[in-house]
Amino acid sequence: MRFASFSLLAFLFASLTTALPTELTNFLLVTTNQSTATSNSSTLRAVSATSLFDPYYQPTLYLRLTGPGYGSLPNFTLTSGTLHTTTYGPHGIGVYEYNSTTVIAGQQLGFLAAEQPAGNLALDAGYLLTVGGEKEGWMICKGDLEQDVLFWKGSGTTCVRTFVHGVRDAPY
Ligand SMILES: *[C@@H]1O[C@H](CO)[C@@H](O)[C@H](O)[C@H]1NC(C)=O
Ligand SMILES: *[C@@H]1O[C@H](CO)[C@@H](O)[C@H](O)[C@H]1NC(C)=O
Ligand SMILES: *[C@@H]1O[C@H](CO)[C@@H](O)[C@H](O)[C@H]1NC(C)=O
Ligand SMILES: *[C@@H]1O[C@H](CO)[C@@H](O)[C@H](O)[C@H]1NC(C)=O
Repeated sequence: MRFASFSLLAFLFASLTTALPTELTNFLLVTTNQSTATSNSSTLRAVSATSLFDPYYQPTLYLRLTGPGYGSLPNFTLTSGTLHTTTYGPHGIGVYEYNSTTVIAGQQLGFLAAEQPAGNLALDAGYLLTVGGEKEGWMICKGDLEQDVLFWKGSGTTCVRTFVHGVRDAPY
C-alpha cells in the first residue's frame, strides 16, 4: 500500500512537471490574448510574433507586432529583471547588447544599448512576462508609423489588452 501510494505520487509529480513549460533561457516574445501556456506557440489564441522597431533611428528600440514573412526574430534572455537582446545599432551600424529600461505605466517597452539598473520584469511560471509581478497590463496600441507596438498600461483609444509570453519557437 505504501509503495503503491508512493508510485502514484511519483507519477503525479512526473505528469505535473512534464506539463509545465521547460525553463527558457533564450526565448522569443509573442503577444496572445490567452494567459495559459501551450506547448506549440502556433496554437496560442490571436498570437503575434514581435520584432525590434526603430522608427526614427532613435537610441531606444521598441517592440512591434510582426506578421509572417519576417527575416528573423530577436531572441531574449532575462536577468536581474531586465531583458537582453543583441542587435544592430541605429542605421545598422555596430552590434550591441540592448537592455530593457524600467517598465513604466503609459510607456512602451523600450531597449537601450546601455547598462541598466535591475528591472521589474519576470517570467511568471517560466513563460508569462510580468511587470512588478503583475501579469495584466500589456496593451497593443497604434504607435509610430501606424505600427502595432507594446505598451504597459497604455490608455490610448487604439489599445487592446494582450499577454506577453516567452516561447521557444516562432508561431509562424
Ligand atoms: C504547431 O501547430 C501548428 C498549427 O496547428 C502546426 O502546423 C505545427 O506543425 C505545429 N508544430 C509542432 C512542432 O508541433
Ligand atoms: C482573442 O482574440 C480573438 C481574435 O482576435 C477573438 O476572437 C477572441 O474573442 C479573443 N478572446 C479573448 C478572450 O479576448
Ligand atoms: C539569437 O538571435 C541571434 C541573432 O539573430 C542569432 O545569431 C542566435 O543564433 C540566436 N540564438 C538562439 C539561441 O536562437
Ligand atoms: C547591457 O547590460 C549588460 C549587463 O546586464 C552589460 O554587460 C552590457 O554592456 C549592456 N549593454 C551595453 C551596450 O552597455
